[in-house]
Formats: sequence, structure tokens, C-alpha cells
Amino acid sequence: MKNLISILDLSLEEIDELIATANDIIANPTKYQDICRYKKLATLFYEPSTRTRLSFEAAMLELGGSVLGFSEANSSSAAKGESVADTAQTISCYADIIAMRHPKEGAPYVCAQHASIPVINAGDGGHNHPTQTLTDLLTIYREKGRFDNLTIGFCGDLKFGRTVHSLIQAMSRYTGIKVVLISPVELKLPSYIKKDVLKANNIPYVQTTSLEEVMPELDILYMTRVQRERFFNEEDYLRLKDSYILTPEKLKTAKEDLAIMHPLPRVNEISVAVDKDPRACYFRQVLNGKYIRMALILKLLKEAGRI
Ligand code: CP
Repeated sequence: MKNLISILDLSLEEIDELIATANDIIANPTKYQDICRYKKLATLFYEPSTRTRLSFEAAMLELGGSVLGFSEANSSSAAKGESVADTAQTISCYADIIAMRHPKEGAPYVCAQHASIPVINAGDGGHNHPTQTLTDLLTIYREKGRFDNLTIGFCGDLKFGRTVHSLIQAMSRYTGIKVVLISPVELKLPSYIKKDVLKANNIPYVQTTSLEEVMPELDILYMTRVQRERFFNEEDYLRLKDSYILTPEKLKTAKEDLAIMHPLPRVNEISVAVDKDPRACYFRQVLNGKYIRMALILKLLKEAGRI
């Protein structure tokens, strides 16, 4: 595999390998500190980011490599009308690997068609976010010790939340998974994901608007923010943005070993009072994101014969 555009580009064996590498990096960081010396990662971010861009950069630096790139379209020649295809060919002359975030679905795929170096999708519109999914999988593995036989509740903006779409795709390949979809009616999971992923893989799922009702059943609660930037009108966003606010009170009926996850950024959907709860693992999830991206950079550079 030369690129990572969708989580389905990775087999379950490859995901296991990446998780094993990430765990080894966590245990033995010095072993990896020079592997990417003289190699360059280009971060092409046409949309805002804190975690994804900076964790990619930290990952490459901790592997001994360097980073270059831009963090907004307006500081690149995209502002003058340059196409993603031309940008891909240009960056291939300067770097060894690309991580691209773009507001348009499919842009990283187009980039991969024209680049001569590996391309990683760092989030494309409301579509996919496979490196967040790898982060989530490493977190699930480290928190729960398994991927099978888990009931996962996805709560919030399931329509536009690309991290939800990618994680549902990933978890649907494991056995004994049950999915609970908790959202306002207007932000339900798109029908194509229910049909092509959940139904196609015989994953039992329920849809509800009530988090309280399903809380006791959940092994994992994956909270998400309402994605303001993808709404067509501000009025709808304001009406829906506080649909779910997780508080210590609401967690009283939850399992003792619930894992509370969130891809972040958080706006208002998890009260800061929840942060002290040992079941809140969203900042451990942030750290896992750096390690799994280190593992991914290593894999793609090795496969491309660049290290
Ligand atoms: N989780 C995530 O993608 O965060 P950023 O938007 O800050 O990169």
C-alpha cells in the first residue's frame, strides 16, 4: 500500500502491525529516533487543524526527520488557483511523504493520483479521516485490550462527523460489535453508511435521540462536536449545537469501565468536570495520535523504499 486514503486501504493484519509498532515506539522511543533522518514530511493543510497537523509534525520530528508545508490554503498557491494535481507533482519534488487535509471530499485521492510519493488523507470534508481512526483504534486497544465484542455509542453530529464514518467502517470488520447511534434527527448517520457498512456487515445498530436511555449499555462512548463549518445556515447550527452535553451526572448510570472518547476539538459537548473521571480518555487519545502516525509514516516510507 503506497497511500492511506480510506481506513479500508489497510487490512486487519496491517492495522494489527501498526498498533504493535506504535506500542513498541511507546515502550522504546530511542530505538526510532533516527530512522527518518534526512526524510521530509510535507503537511498540506487547506483546513484548520491543531491535533492532526501538529501530531504529524511531532511524529516526523521524533523519527529524526524534518517537516515543511502550509497550514491554510491562502498561504499557498491554491489562492492563485493552482490545482491539487499540480500541487501534488510540485511537492513530490521537495518531500518524501505528504499528509493532506482538504475541505473537498476526494482531494487527497486526487493528490495521490498525481504524487510520486506516499499520500496520507488527514481529513477530507465530511468524508473520511483515517489517521484519526488509527488513533481511535490504538486508544480502544490500549483502553479495552480488544476490538471484538464491544458496544459503541456514537453521539452528536453523525451526519458530518468524518471521524465517525471512518471508525464505523473500521469497527464493522470485527466480530460481536454493536453500534448505538445517538443524534438529533437532522444529524443522523447518512443512509449510505447504514446500508453499505452496517447492514452489509450484519452489524446490529439502533438509532436514538436519547443518550441517557442507552448509557448503561455502552462499553465506549464516542462523543463528537456539531460541525459548524459544514452547516448551510447558522440558525440550524445554533439550534443543534448543544443537543448533547456530557456531565458527571449523566455518567452515573454508565459502566465502570466505559471508555469516553472524543476526536477533539471539544466545544461544549463534554463538560470539563468530566475530564477528571478516569474513564475520560480523550487526552490519552491525543497522545496516541502521535504514536500511531509515527508507525504509519514508517510503514509508508518503508513500502515506498525511502527508508
Ligand atoms: N481530531 C482532529 O482531527 O483534530 P484537528 O482538527 O485539531 O486536527
